[in-house]
Amino acid sequence: MASAPSRDPGALVLGIETSCDETAAAVVADGHEILSNVVSSQVADHAPFGGVVPELASRRHLEAIVWVVQQALEQAGKDLNEITGIAVTQGPGLIGALLVGLGLAKALAWARALAIVGINHLEAHLAALRWAEPRAVYPMVALLVSGGHTCLYYIPAQGQMELVGQSVDDAAGEAFDKVAKLFGLGYPGGVRISRLGAGGNPQAYDFPRPMISSGDYNFSFAGLKSALVRFREAHKGQPYRLEDVCASFEQAVVDVLVAKTMAAAQHFGAKAVGAAGGVAANARLRAELGRAAKARGLSLSLAPVELCTDNAAMVAALGSDKLRAGERLGLEAEAVSRVDSSGGLG
Ligand code: KG4
Ligand code: ZN
Repeated sequence: MASAPSRDPGALVLGIETSCDETAAAVVADGHEILSNVVSSQVADHAPFGGVVPELASRRHLEAIVWVVQQALEQAGKDLNEITGIAVTQGPGLIGALLVGLGLAKALAWARALAIVGINHLEAHLAALRWAEPRAVYPMVALLVSGGHTCLYYIPAQGQMELVGQSVDDAAGEAFDKVAKLFGLGYPGGVRISRLGAGGNPQAYDFPRPMISSGDYNFSFAGLKSALVRFREAHKGQPYRLEDVCASFEQAVVDVLVAKTMAAAQHFGAKAVGAAGGVAANARLRAELGRAAKARGLSLSLAPVELCTDNAAMVAALGSDKLRAGERLGLEAEAVSRVDSSGGLG
């Protein structure tokens, strides 16, 4: 008897993402066509605390995950029987949160005998560059800026990446979130600060640009946050325009991110620069990267704004590539909270 033709595991991938405070599932065809992309945000649950509460995140993921996966299949018009492979975020992230997605993904893969692959959340953010306009060109230097990470990668060709710099303390998104909390602007801070900052003068205050001339590709944002703490104390009882503070703070972060990205691009002889991750949704950063790239004759690839913050489409798309390359996750595999020194899951 002839055996059934083996299916391409990357043809129709279900992606699952639960690394932080978004419960997300998506169905992606051929690593590119997004058939559905469902994100259930917990932002409102964490807002009263001014940041993500890990235990609460795990509980909310557990409540939402089955419904979110069902929605992703329904919106894609696909049945679980048609899915050819599963991609799930394995790390880095909050362990209890990751375990919820990983547990469901493993159970589905086991029950349906589906190919499954574990995904590095940081690599998934960069994978969103496949949807950039204009198309990504290589070699590229890519900036990954999120709530948990600020990293620079040298990407000689799609699918290869070398970590060349990262924050030695707070991530850029973390700085946005902490400064927003300091000024009572709520969580998540990035969106609130950039909304207020849009109406402010970015030159009003000369906040520090930490490590801008350090000669390497690392970042530091803890000192900038402390400068804002001192500013607030020094201006107690005095009037100031919060719009100007937000714009000036945002400008300081953007100046450092752009300067380091351009320095790395020059050093590595890149033809293009790219940006992905939650903070890459920031309009000022996108505009300034655009200006700086143009001035240097570099191509610019930005992840689409709606795919900058956490989602499972980026996980499914990267999963498709990896499943096709033969990568698999063992059903005994664990969630990984932190990346190793090379940026991998170890
Ligand atoms: O990638 P992401 O959704 O989650 C992590 O992997 O961390 O990034 C979330 C971060 C938060 O710190 C949030 O404040 C920031 O991205 N963010 C922004 C903007 N939108 C989200 N930061 C600056 N400007 C924005 N428009
Ligand atoms: Zn993320």
